[in-house]
Amino acid sequence: MMKKDAEVIIIGSGIAALMTAFRLIKHKHVMIITKSNVKCSNSVLAQGGIAAAISEDDHWQRHLEDTLLAGANHNDEQMTKLLVKNAPKMLKCLQALGVTFDRQKNGQLALGLEGAHGYRRIAHIKGDQTGRALIDALWEKLEGRVTLFENTLAYELLKNGEEIIGVKTSKGNYYAPYTVLATGGCGQLFEVTSNVLEATGDGIAIAFRAGATLADLEFVQFHPTVFIDETGKALGLISEAVRGEGARLLTNEGDPVLGYHPLKDLAPRDEVSRAVFFAYENGKQVFLDVSNIPHFEKRFPTISARCERYLPTWDGQIPIAPGAHFISGGIVTNENGRTTLPRLYAIGEVACTGVHGANRLASNSLLEGLVFAERLSFDLLTRNDLPAANSLTEQDVNLPNEVELPTRKVLQKKMSSLVGIVRSEKSLTEMERWLQPYLSLSRLSIHSKTQDEFERSNLVLIASLMTRSALLRRESRGGHYRSDIPQQVSEWRQKIVQWSFSRGAFMEQRNQIKPKEEVQK
Ligand code: SIN
Repeated sequence: MMKKDAEVIIIGSGIAALMTAFRLIKHKHVMIITKSNVKCSNSVLAQGGIAAAISEDDHWQRHLEDTLLAGANHNDEQMTKLLVKNAPKMLKCLQALGVTFDRQKNGQLALGLEGAHGYRRIAHIKGDQTGRALIDALWEKLEGRVTLFENTLAYELLKNGEEIIGVKTSKGNYYAPYTVLATGGCGQLFEVTSNVLEATGDGIAIAFRAGATLADLEFVQFHPTVFIDETGKALGLISEAVRGEGARLLTNEGDPVLGYHPLKDLAPRDEVSRAVFFAYENGKQVFLDVSNIPHFEKRFPTISARCERYLPTWDGQIPIAPGAHFISGGIVTNENGRTTLPRLYAIGEVACTGVHGANRLASNSLLEGLVFAERLSFDLLTRNDLPAANSLTEQDVNLPNEVELPTRKVLQKKMSSLVGIVRSEKSLTEMERWLQPYLSLSRLSIHSKTQDEFERSNLVLIASLMTRSALLRRESRGGHYRSDIPQQVSEWRQKIVQWSFSRGAFMEQRNQIKPKEEVQK
């Protein structure tokens, strides 16, 4: 008999995790494990909203076209169709749960506009508090109905042969027939980020160490408008919806940063971020001018309060810089969230479903969590392949002590300058060389060490795979921009760089460059 502490273990507590739990709790005993608290995630910080083609003149096909165009045609088109076609239904589901979206005076939903969207289609809550409101609403439904472990670090996936049968955590081992990784992304790889401190790529790293296939790690999205102080430190995100309402990106000399672009300040995120980056490279500073937005405080209460807090003599100009925001790549999953490892699912930012291509369209990420939670839970509830009696294969590894992992700050500095918004063969090779001494260490499961050390080892591991992926992809596409090859290259169209790792040979990592349709799912 298999040992069982729950029927499903979900690791993480963002929108994808909580929506999956919500869809399962009537039928399954669900355990949620999170390394901080249930209300701490990138989802809570999400300001923009949920994209859905619901206005009269809009259509899911237009949402699809915008998503593919922003994604530089690297998207998996079938998966992206699933995403956008289901969006209106997801809004209805949330409303049925009691979620109240903002409305116009005439009673219709108030729809925001964001970069690269051809139509107003972003449903939002309390102006810029969509993520927090959704998490609060979902947790209200879940509290007391799931087993919750907060401040619990998931170190390693437990395996019975190839099957995932649970997770090793800082509070002990927990077993379940199904495990769902919903741990979010890895924005903490970079100095400026919109992400929470906890976004250290843990799920991607533990899945890789267990043998799951990863893909698309070179595609990092930098959000163009992260509020910064005079030292360049991030103070929080300024939603793209602010530009949707008319805010403009201006240099300190008053020149428009995107003057040349047909879509101006609402161009795709990767292009706007690069324009801001190059303005800084040319010795300018960049501000978001919101002075022409009527009732700014009412439409964007969180952002407005933050500006007043940090800029006492605020005049409508917000100092900004691009910051790491989202990784399109991650653990390869099929349309139901299944990874390449039996009994392991992944969902949300940690997963690579292919819906975001090389650059995610704004407000498609909460949507991804919602759509795939429905599919994953249906898949999980309709299977009855119980695991065999377990004979656990655990590997307790004694760490070699001679190499110290770099501090988070040092790694962030290196990644930002060498694998950031603009990369090149030279910078990537330099990064690879710098990472070399740490690689064997980052591939080990280091459950015997501290949380900080575990997180650093995950960041180093992902940094190395990201750097290698960026070196291999000899073109620029979406969030991956190489100054030495600044254009898309037709041979790379619909090709993906994917990784898997075989245990027992810690240094061995096989990468494969494959046409999309041959990617193993
Ligand atoms: C934003 O509000 O600009 C962020 C939303 C998103 O990343 O989709």
